[in-house]
Amino acid sequence: MDPHPLIERIRKREAVIGVIGLGYVGLPLVTEFAKAGFKVLGFDIDQGKTDALNRGESYIHHIPSANIRSILDKNLLEATTDFSRAREADALLICVPTPLTAHQEPDLSYIKSTGLSIAPHIRPGQLIVLESTTYPGTTEEILRPVLESGGAVCGKDFLLAYSPEREDPGNATFSTGKIPKVVGGCDANALDAADALYSEIVVSTVRVSSARTAEAVKLLENIFRSVNIALVNELKLIYTKMDIDVWEVIEAAATKPFGYMPFYPGPGLGGHCIPIDPFYLSWKAREYGIAARFIELAGEVNTAMPEYVVSCLMNALNERSKALKGARVLVLGVAYKADVDDTRESPGLTLIEIMQSRGATVDYNDPFVPQLVASRRFDLKLKSVDLTPTSLAEYDCVLIATAHTAYDYDFIVEHAQLVLDTRNATKNVTQHRDRIHKA
Ligand SMILES: NC(=O)c1ccc[n+]([C@@H]2O[C@H](COP(=O)([O-])OP(=O)(O)OC[C@H]3O[C@@H](n4cnc5c(N)ncnc54)[C@H](O)[C@@H]3O)[C@@H](O)[C@H]2O)c1
Repeated sequence: MDPHPLIERIRKREAVIGVIGLGYVGLPLVTEFAKAGFKVLGFDIDQGKTDALNRGESYIHHIPSANIRSILDKNLLEATTDFSRAREADALLICVPTPLTAHQEPDLSYIKSTGLSIAPHIRPGQLIVLESTTYPGTTEEILRPVLESGGAVCGKDFLLAYSPEREDPGNATFSTGKIPKVVGGCDANALDAADALYSEIVVSTVRVSSARTAEAVKLLENIFRSVNIALVNELKLIYTKMDIDVWEVIEAAATKPFGYMPFYPGPGLGGHCIPIDPFYLSWKAREYGIAARFIELAGEVNTAMPEYVVSCLMNALNERSKALKGARVLVLGVAYKADVDDTRESPGLTLIEIMQSRGATVDYNDPFVPQLVASRRFDLKLKSVDLTPTSLAEYDCVLIATAHTAYDYDFIVEHAQLVLDTRNATKNVTQHRDRIHKA
């Protein structure tokens, strides 16, 4: 098959881009392609999302509704739940979830069901790119046969590639277009087409030899973070026992201009990527008879952090002759990281659950999360409480789980009885330091 007609259409920005899965990854891609002048068709099974977009409303905090309205005004966006319209797109980019099952194994059901919904509608010459994070081999071994189940043949009727998403929600310096994009094709034509496509919207592309290699790149990046975070979490336990402030150590080490990169301890891992993706590889490695010991160990250390934080809380309360059972605790920040509205796998939620199970009464405040909605793992039914001098003073402890920049830490420490700080957020607070405990 000659891919040039598609590449030509891409260069002239005549190609229609279909983005499947309009979440934290898919929606920024939609806006980036539309900004570059491409017509974009957004697909999702959640009609609430497609309706919102068609009304010009964003449901992701760091993507302003004005951006959606501006591309709607230019007729560059339409969102739909009708997958038969997949045939209208020249390129289809799949950005659906890749979580773990209850047994901590890869859950590829979203990728498979997406493949099944578009397979009957594949039209000759289309490029299909998987963007979801997954283990090496998924594009070729799992997605390809599902796509071919409709009769179209990969490499002949359609091109298939993998290009991992490196989105960092809320990162003002590196928005989608500023992050180099790795691309790997199932054959040379697919690689060329995917390369041509992303070259239109990102600062640079990085071509690798296969889809499997591109899948492996993404996992390396996330495993690197998971292992290094586990390392500093472990060092935190050791240095705390030695009465050395791990945060001070990290800041000083970070002045080394080469061979070191700072990672920071925390109350546990959160988000859709770091707590999950490494286990995609450890699962796949078992097929090759290899135990991924680093990955498993990092997982163990990081997963133990919420319990460690709760033990620090119990000690701090104990010093005030109080028990966790019956205590009132206010958790600050239930988003998994600062200044985003994403609560997936958030350690703040795990902390709430553990403290409730030990008999504490727990509330939370988060300027980005007005209320907690039920998810795969949590159903906490809480609403964000206001931060006032009176409300802060009512709690036996205020636990900083996520250090949003909007928080006024002087104000918080001034009015709280006790503050347990898991993020070193109170480092510049000068008054009432005896109220602050680190965890
Ligand atoms: N969030 C991040 O920062 C980030 C960064 C890099 C990579 N990733 C990876 O990108 C992928 C998507 O993550 P996300 O954070 O955007 O997830 P998300 O949950 O925010 O969005 C996924 C969207 O897919 C939709 N969806 C589910 N099944 C579908 C189907 N069969 N057909 C069409 N739409 C469907 C959901 O309704 C949702 O809107 C995952 O593999 C994730 O690991 C995420």
